[in-house]
Amino acid sequence: MTQNIRACVSRKYPEWIVLISTKDRDGRQNVMPAGWSMFTSHEPLLYAVSVGVERYTHDVIHKTGEFVIAYPVEGMGPDIVHTGTHSGPDKLKETSFEFLPAELVRPGLIKGALVNLECKLHSAHLTGDHTIFVGEVVKGHYSGEPGRRLMNFGSKTYAVARMEAGTVFRYE
Ligand SMILES: Cc1cc2nc3c(=O)[nH]c(=O)nc-3n(C[C@H](O)[C@H](O)[C@H](O)COP(=O)(O)O)c2cc1C
Repeated sequence: MTQNIRACVSRKYPEWIVLISTKDRDGRQNVMPAGWSMFTSHEPLLYAVSVGVERYTHDVIHKTGEFVIAYPVEGMGPDIVHTGTHSGPDKLKETSFEFLPAELVRPGLIKGALVNLECKLHSAHLTGDHTIFVGEVVKGHYSGEPGRRLMNFGSKTYAVARMEAGTVFRYE
């Protein structure tokens, strides 16, 4: 990639951070943060997340067809850095993440997250060195106030988003 294109890509930040919770076939819980994700359909309700082909999470979603998307909140920053820089379930021993049972999928819900979306794999699209996994949201959980979420600012930096709009423009 040329320097110019790299500079263009870096201007995409900030982006919301989500956590992808998975459980491998041996029942081992894992978490990885992702910045590349979005809702992509209302009906059915679909959520897409782009996962590098070398990630442990990539292999697990392919094999199990299930994942949970969670919106992290302030205080989870150090655990995001740890799970985003180490691979595989063992890394969770060095985090303070706690899990609650999901209702319709095996991966755990992340305790204290603002939102947990239970997803069953709808489709997978290899894009290059990442795969976009599209999950059908089969159950949603919401807790707490809609504030203090975390954003990825690129170049190995993150920050708490204040969630305060400036002037609000309404449109018809
Ligand atoms: C803030 C942040 C955002 C990230 N976004 C993505 C992403 O969108 N897609 C991706 O494949 N990796 C992303 N990563 C890197 C993975 O989280 C990282 O490679 C992680 O160690 C993978 O864990 P695993 O191998 O246990 O699945 C991100 C890391 C951080 C810290």
